[in-house]
Amino acid sequence: MLKYDRMTIVMHWLTAGLIVVMWLLPQAIDLFPRGSFMRSTLLGSHIAVGFLTIAVLAVRVGWRASGGRNLPAEPGWQGWAAKAMHHLLYVAVAAALVLGVTNAWVRGDSVFGLLHFISFAPGDRATRRLIGGMHELAANAVLILAGLHGAMALAHHYVLKDGVLRRMLPQA
Ligand code: HEM
Ligand code: HEM
Repeated sequence: MLKYDRMTIVMHWLTAGLIVVMWLLPQAIDLFPRGSFMRSTLLGSHIAVGFLTIAVLAVRVGWRASGGRNLPAEPGWQGWAAKAMHHLLYVAVAAALVLGVTNAWVRGDSVFGLLHFISFAPGDRATRRLIGGMHELAANAVLILAGLHGAMALAHHYVLKDGVLRRMLPQA
């Protein structure tokens, strides 16, 4: 059976894990009072892991465009739908990342006191709300698309019993 190469597999699961962590971190922020140490630590972690995710995605896309093995899609509408979903995922993840950086920038956030964004629209609450809302929308879209994509991969494995999931798994 044709499999994705090792680097593509590592990058796929690394991105998937990072995105789940990226979505979960801000959910915990509101559990802590404004100005608390935990709040700024969670926000700083979200932004720092965000930069790591940007780096991983850049390596992944670079590898896909150069040495990576790109497997042919299945024939027919299913293969077409899978390809469309993969492209949508790349677009949604890229949008969430770009809007995330813009969000930290408009808010003027600090990352553990080491990196300080200087707001490009200080005091402009409407712009701040708009960008925050767009970032949230893109983040939720990534999660929903990834959920559908993961569910289809599991359906291939357990219902259709073909090798689609196995070609993205480390062994077997
Ligand atoms: C795919 C990657 C990302 C995902 C899934 C994600 C997810 C989220 C979610 C779900 C929220 C909470 C939205 C809300 O309830 O208002 C959020 C807020 C935020 N994100 Fe991201 N994000 C990502 C990337 C980034 C990046 C790269 C940065 C900056 C470098 C960033 C900066 C922020 C900031 C500053 C907030 C506001 C936190 C707060 O309300 O206290 N995000 N993100
Ligand atoms: C945030 C989570 C995820 C993202 C962003 C993501 C993204 C992607 C992308 C963009 C591809 C296309 C690979 C390429 O040609 O470049 C892909 C392939 C694949 N993904 Fe994911 N994925 C995620 C989670 C999952 C999960 C949870 C599963 C399984 C339960 C999964 C299983 C697969 C499989 C089997 C393939 C290969 C499909 C094929 O060859 O037709 N992915 N993923």
